[in-house]
Amino acid sequence: MAPSLGAAALSRLLGPWNRGSGPAYRGLADVLRLLILDGRVPLDTALPSERSLSSALEVSRTTVTAAYSSLREQGFLSSGQGSRGRTRIPENTTFGRALYGPRPAAGGAQVAPGLTAPEGLVDLAYSALPASGEVVHRAFAAALTELPALLPGFGYDALGLLPLRQAIADRYSAAGAPTQPSQIMVTSGAQHALTIIIRALADRQDRILVEHPSYPNALDAVRAAHCRPVPVAFTDNGWDLPALESALAQQRPTIAYVIPDFHNPTGMIMPDSQRRRLARAAAAAGTVLVADETLRELNLDGVPSTPMAAFGKTVVSIGSLSKSHWGGLRTGWIRASEPMIQRFASTRTALDLGGPVMEQLAAAHLVRALDEPLPALLDMLRGNRAALLALLQDHLPEWETAVPAGGLSVWCRLPTPISTALTVIAPDYGIRLAAGPRFGVGGAFERNLRLPFTLPPEKLEAAVLALKAARDRLDAAPQLRRSLTHAPAVAIA
Ligand SMILES: Cc1ncc(COP(=O)(O)O)c(C=O)c1O
Repeated sequence: MAPSLGAAALSRLLGPWNRGSGPAYRGLADVLRLLILDGRVPLDTALPSERSLSSALEVSRTTVTAAYSSLREQGFLSSGQGSRGRTRIPENTTFGRALYGPRPAAGGAQVAPGLTAPEGLVDLAYSALPASGEVVHRAFAAALTELPALLPGFGYDALGLLPLRQAIADRYSAAGAPTQPSQIMVTSGAQHALTIIIRALADRQDRILVEHPSYPNALDAVRAAHCRPVPVAFTDNGWDLPALESALAQQRPTIAYVIPDFHNPTGMIMPDSQRRRLARAAAAAGTVLVADETLRELNLDGVPSTPMAAFGKTVVSIGSLSKSHWGGLRTGWIRASEPMIQRFASTRTALDLGGPVMEQLAAAHLVRALDEPLPALLDMLRGNRAALLALLQDHLPEWETAVPAGGLSVWCRLPTPISTALTVIAPDYGIRLAAGPRFGVGGAFERNLRLPFTLPPEKLEAAVLALKAARDRLDAAPQLRRSLTHAPAVAIA
């Protein structure tokens, strides 16, 4: 039987919904839609009957009837004859396409990273760094001397070179998650890893739990696989464990994709106690918990934590050298149980036949000395983070920011829903932005903007001044703001 929500519980979730000046039914429908999009009202849940909700909210039954029919028309409620409507996300309706935008082209992303940033723009859509030059260069020089020994072989290896898998496994073991090299598969980055995992485990229409907000390219990978994202919102203080547990128990998604280590875009870190609870809830629901640890090394405040893999045998972890060393290495990995890795390996061969040998030889050196470039990198990022927060405080004090414990970006909360409009006019001011709604499903996060602190303070200053000028223009022209509802499809990392 589908889970259901009682009138009293829904009335609590709705809070003071009737504050707008429009008709009451529209206000009720708007707040209900947001609750569904935020994941606070889970998908496939039967809403209370019209009679019980109208009496709990002390409004006429006509108000509730009209609100429910509006949600039905927009595709947020199923329209079972006589039965209570169930919540859903309108992917295949005209309204749904307006919310989601056009279906991504084959392969997911609409624009390839790195190809489209016009010359001269300060790029705030990428949350990435240049290579830690000397360290990467040295690793390739050493790899070149090792290459001749491998040339007599075929060069294909779906799992990856053993010395690299050994080095990655040793790092997990040292961090508290004992790991054998047979539990590692080397991939062409974390995004490749996620694509393989989804392809191996999920069928079309399967549910995939995601944090809301989440990493845009991961959301694109979920959509490209024609799976249904189940978004779960954060509280003001971090992960909402009761909401995650209830989404897992009620929706039983095939996969739950989380970024516990310096979550992109918020920069938060999940405490070990929550990791344990989440891993337990996922295992109980039969859901494969996928922990993306791409940003794990960017621990700006030195917060201790244990890799998610230590909390459950069925956890699948994703790692990458993109943030600690360089995105251009295109080297990442999956850590999972041995049978699961075998399953990923057979899925992989439909996509590619393994990673390039030179990159893997170099990566083995980098992973063995993974901490080497970190002190200087973290020092620089701490300085940039402080500079960006101070600049925002000085020039855009109404924008709310929390200090991220790590990662590469600040997730700002804006007083007005202008994220898309800002993104559209940003190039006129010399900057490129990623609109807040790219980080969510169904048009959420129009009041949010991710700002990376990957640029040096002088560039950050120019960027914040440009943002302020763009914001002032929109404040002075509300008509303009309302008309700019579609952001151009830009590459995001
Ligand atoms: C959370 C997260 N996952 C995956 C990626 C992509 O990583 P890669 O370059 O290894 O594909 C990024 C890059 O920003 C990220 O932040």
